Amino acid sequence: MSTSDTVTQYQLLAKNGAFARASVPRPVPGPTEVSFRTRAVALNPADWKQRAWGFAIETWPAVLGLEAAGVVEAVGEQVTAVQVGDEVFGSVGFGGKAAAFQEVVTVDVTRVGRKPKGLSFEDAVSLPLGFGTAASAVVKGLQIPLRTLLPPADSTPRATPLRSVLVLGGSSAVGAAAIQILRIAQPELTIFATSSAQHHARLLSLGADKAFDRATAQADPAEIIAAAPGGEGVDAILDAVGAGGEQLAVFGALRKGGPGLYVQVFTGKDLVVPEGVEHVVASTRFLWALPGGGEVLTLLAGLVDEGRYALPVEVEVVGTGFKAIPGGLDRLQAGLVSGRKLVVSI
Ligand SMILES: NC(=O)c1ccc[n+]([C@@H]2O[C@H](COP(=O)([O-])OP(=O)(O)OC[C@H]3O[C@@H](n4cnc5c(N)ncnc54)[C@H](OP(=O)(O)O)[C@@H]3O)[C@@H](O)[C@H]2O)c1
Repeated sequence: MSTSDTVTQYQLLAKNGAFARASVPRPVPGPTEVSFRTRAVALNPADWKQRAWGFAIETWPAVLGLEAAGVVEAVGEQVTAVQVGDEVFGSVGFGGKAAAFQEVVTVDVTRVGRKPKGLSFEDAVSLPLGFGTAASAVVKGLQIPLRTLLPPADSTPRATPLRSVLVLGGSSAVGAAAIQILRIAQPELTIFATSSAQHHARLLSLGADKAFDRATAQADPAEIIAAAPGGEGVDAILDAVGAGGEQLAVFGALRKGGPGLYVQVFTGKDLVVPEGVEHVVASTRFLWALPGGGEVLTLLAGLVDEGRYALPVEVEVVGTGFKAIPGGLDRLQAGLVSGRKLVVSI
């Protein structure tokens, strides 16, 4: 087999084990698939959880990574949305040829979009997973249709629209995406968010009406209740980081007699919530099944190009080449990443 018939994967050899480079046969894209050469990958909490817990891994060695951006090298015969040479960004994975941490990523064409024109590969790769996850939480969880983002049939709107939503973890990639999506989807909505104080100004610039210190307000939500419409608390909580599982007091922020809705992004842990609260778990994978789900990254690129969607969190390039991945995952696992996305140039 000649060199060009093989591609490099950065494989995780075992649970909690080391990574190693390996040559594998170059995948041939199926009829609706696209193969692209990786130019940047993002590091996500799911990556360290997979490394540490073996979460969602059936066989070893495994290839991790959920976000990649690069240049299209081959497309299946039914693919028309992108062509060879296009610059794309994608919400990719899980595992095998679809995972991000390899030279060439091969996924269904619905999992990629043309890279926003004004963004580098490194900035673009920070976007897709947070956007997709937050969109899933908004559409499936809060039942707020994204009519400006997705075709009208995307979800059933609530009979009584929500008046207020509290985003827990507003400085996370998912939380900061959710603030922007909510502001676009329902301009008149009251949006509150929690984070450490250093990120409050940014959350307001992304569309939050008010930001609260996450340590104090999640432990005692009196301030949030008072600031909500009518001083009665919020209609719903969108928990981007699973904070409600650790700080049950925050459920007191929900308006008595209101919808009592708690939408929690799946974090890998099951959370128990107080009785009477409607608990919905959201995940990116729900999005792909929605009508129009396959258009999401194209829509995201359009919003970025039009200046309607900003980078939710700061982008930090932690190095060049696969060898920079483990150190970045160590930082994520240690909880040392605040309001930023770690990215590796390839
Ligand atoms: N199911 C899915 O499809 C899916 C997809 C993506 C992510 N996720 C999960 O969603 C979660 C968020 O992912 P991400 O990439 O957005 O994470 P991230 O950006 O790495 O999150 C870091 C941020 O979380 C905030 N934070 C941590 N603990 C908090 C708490 N108790 N209360 C409030 N804020 C807290 C920190 O805020 P401060 O520094 O301001 O304190 C920090 O800025 C992770 O658990 C991830 O595994 C799931």
